[in-house]
Amino acid sequence: MIRTVATKPYDDQKPGTSGLRKKVPVFQQEHYAENFIQSIFDALEGFKGKTLVLGGDGRFYNREVIQKVIGIAAANGFGKVMVGQGGILSTPAASNLIRKYKAFGGIILSASHNPGGPHEDFGIKYNAENGGPAPERITDAIFAKSKTIREYKIVDIGEIDIDKLGTVQAGGMTVEVIDPVKDYAGLMESLFDFNALRKLFESGFHMRFDSMHAVTGPYGKEILENRLGAAKGTCRNFKPLPDFGGHHPDPNLVHAKHLYDEMMGADAPDFGAASDGDGDRNLIIGKGIFVTPSDSVAMLAANATVAPGYRKGLAGIARSMPTSGAADRVAEKLGIGIYETPTGWKFFGNLLDAGMATICGEESAGTGSNHVREKDGLWAVLLWLSIIAVRGESVKEIVTKHWATYGRNYYSRHDYEEVETERANALITALRGKLASLPGTKVRGLTVAKADDFAYHDPVDGSVSEHQGIRVLFEGGSRVVFRLSGTGTSGATLRVYIERYEPDASKHDIETQQALADLIAAADDIAGIRSHTGRAKPSVIT
Ligand code: G1P
Ligand code: ZN
Repeated sequence: MIRTVATKPYDDQKPGTSGLRKKVPVFQQEHYAENFIQSIFDALEGFKGKTLVLGGDGRFYNREVIQKVIGIAAANGFGKVMVGQGGILSTPAASNLIRKYKAFGGIILSASHNPGGPHEDFGIKYNAENGGPAPERITDAIFAKSKTIREYKIVDIGEIDIDKLGTVQAGGMTVEVIDPVKDYAGLMESLFDFNALRKLFESGFHMRFDSMHAVTGPYGKEILENRLGAAKGTCRNFKPLPDFGGHHPDPNLVHAKHLYDEMMGADAPDFGAASDGDGDRNLIIGKGIFVTPSDSVAMLAANATVAPGYRKGLAGIARSMPTSGAADRVAEKLGIGIYETPTGWKFFGNLLDAGMATICGEESAGTGSNHVREKDGLWAVLLWLSIIAVRGESVKEIVTKHWATYGRNYYSRHDYEEVETERANALITALRGKLASLPGTKVRGLTVAKADDFAYHDPVDGSVSEHQGIRVLFEGGSRVVFRLSGTGTSGATLRVYIERYEPDASKHDIETQQALADLIAAADDIAGIRSHTGRAKPSVIT
């Protein structure tokens, strides 16, 4: 029976670039999650009788919200919910299911790489029928609905057993509990030469894949160990836990330091990789060498044709604006389009749908292709393995040869986390105010060539997105970029992106922070980071 429940709006349900993210206790407030789920459906049209894909990264509160979504979807008239067993679906796997089964859309429960647990983060995100994050038009409508909501509809279907595979009828709707890995593994098998990868492992190739107790555990086990024959023990921390074992499932050099240290050690395996909470990010480390995400997208693009799924070549490459220009040089050499978009995967959607880009990447460890409409951690791992298998070279050889061919883009991101919001806003406002006066001035011996507040003109739908980050470009191709994070859940995070291009191969082995020292100092001179934030140094350097 459909029950209509009276409710009052919350005023803070504005979805960011990756859905609505809040602390668990916020989501646990009365009707909070229900309001948001109903607001999603209120913002959509034409889903009666259609299919909704549903799953999450397994974090705390995942199971409870899965049940709520099923009840509200049934009451609102969906014909079917396809839910991952145990409530589990990685973000790229959910994107694939939406596309493969022509679902109306999907709801993904995740706060990506943020920590999980009773006092940590939770998130709800809607993906549209192309499998990608809802465009701004839809997220704006969801927010608008959430501000006026007075009631939601729910069917009391009791607890659906989401651990048992199969189909049940509930509240006039079909609920199909599916294997979260099978379709995704099949997709990977269609893109990559699994025989070649099996031979690589048979030849004694050793790797680590660290799932950080998050969603990619079952995917890694099935694909790497079961299907490709990687040694048992290749997959680490593969059991998804509601609190990710108390760790931050963020595959960077801070939170995956154990992997980094192992890869830099004398007994390092050939290849090390990790993925984040919901499986869309990747960390790639070769024996003795870390591959920056910006370099990774360039190198994957340069070598993509080794894999059957990309044998015909790439239509184009897209990267977010703060991502280094390494991919631009590959696109130039291949004679294909390069697109510079604002931060956030959703901006790649139109380019992928229009067939203008094949590979996309962000400096924040997100890489992917037109196979789904999300970034995809395990996909990046499999493409790297394919390149290694076909070229018969180590990661180090592949990277250094790439730099010798294209030049090296030294690159680093400095994050200042949990800065007081007013102080962070003041820094950006002050910076905006002086943009016009910067060109031609000299900072630490570097001449500013151009300074602007990045605006993106979408070549497909003509939409314009303004204020997407402040760029200060220097003569010679170096630059610093400043922007505030759109995904944090407490205070503000200032991100400073620093890049220097070095064409000379004899200067490719300088330590990164040292290579960037002048620019780091210049960034502080220009933006007054220390004085505005009160911080002497960044909280995270990647
Ligand atoms: C961060 C990353 C961005 C990514 C997003 C979602 O956003 O910088 O590249 O798309 O997470 O994973 P930010 O916190 O910088 O707004
Ligand atoms: Zn993620």
